[in-house]
Amino acid sequence: MTFPKIELHLHLEGAAPPAFIRGIAAEKGVDLSRIFNEAGAYAYGDFLEFLKVYEAATAVLSTPEDYARLIAVVTEDLTEQGAIYAETFISPDFCGGGDLAAWREYLQAMQEAAARSEAQGGVILKGIVTPIRHFGPERAKAPALCAAETAGDFIVGLGLAGDEGVGRPRDYIWAFDCAREAGLRLTCHAGEWGGPASVRAAVEDLGVERIGHGVRAIEDPALVDWLAERGTVLEVCPGSNVALGLYRDYSRHPIARLRDAGVRVTVSTDDPPFFHTTLSREYERLADAFHWGSEDFAALNRVAAEAAFCDAKTRDDLLKKLGDADV
Ligand code: ADE
Ligand code: ZN
Repeated sequence: MTFPKIELHLHLEGAAPPAFIRGIAAEKGVDLSRIFNEAGAYAYGDFLEFLKVYEAATAVLSTPEDYARLIAVVTEDLTEQGAIYAETFISPDFCGGGDLAAWREYLQAMQEAAARSEAQGGVILKGIVTPIRHFGPERAKAPALCAAETAGDFIVGLGLAGDEGVGRPRDYIWAFDCAREAGLRLTCHAGEWGGPASVRAAVEDLGVERIGHGVRAIEDPALVDWLAERGTVLEVCPGSNVALGLYRDYSRHPIARLRDAGVRVTVSTDDPPFFHTTLSREYERLADAFHWGSEDFAALNRVAAEAAFCDAKTRDDLLKKLGDADV
């Protein structure tokens, strides 16, 4: 699938290929063999184990330079997949422990690496600062402040990732208000491990305009109608949901039903090497499962361009590139 694509839901460390993490671990003399299987892939059972493996892999990335190298690898992969624009979740908790001065150093290194991709005609990359839900509401304040202090050309939004089973969206209101006041756009993981009430609470209590996943809204038809009416955009990651056992296969995934009910859905990869997927593979699997063709995918990408947290000029350029594409 070679047409231009937009990726709105991609965790930065979750996009790190196993070989990249193994390479950095070897340079630092860290033994990380426990997180890989015999084939060299990330090894985990369920979602909570996935989060532990994710955090163990992330722990070897300990300098701004490590993160600059990661951005270089990730932008190269995205460009190869035909992505023209992507937003990636970045956590100051992992980049300087929530300390603002340290975060600025990490951010500068990452932003420079992203600018190199763009200057070479590769993907345009923006960052969404993402506190980690299972670190608790108090710890979410420091990354939100980091986001507010560095809002601008590269940092365009605030999200919330991690274990949806911990706390409620309203526990994180301080962080979301702080980001909103700084002009940042808002999204929140919900309706992945939590049910419809979790999705409704994220929209009502945090005022987010996009939801990460949100697919379990399908369990409440009134909520589906409400999301459709509001125009809330879902960052749907079907391969992630299948890999983590939320749905048995793509044909049972609710993305098509949500779309057909008028909900604005987009397609992303979440943590592609963890879930053995790529952006192109997602489109191929959706084409197989739902007989979607180039017009369906072009429409999904137009929704993504409209929902991107970029400035108006970038959005116009994206819509033009999507419109010009020979799909
Ligand atoms: N962090 C990385 N991937 C995630 C996911 N799918 N859900 C919540 N937090 C995450
Ligand atoms: Zn996610």
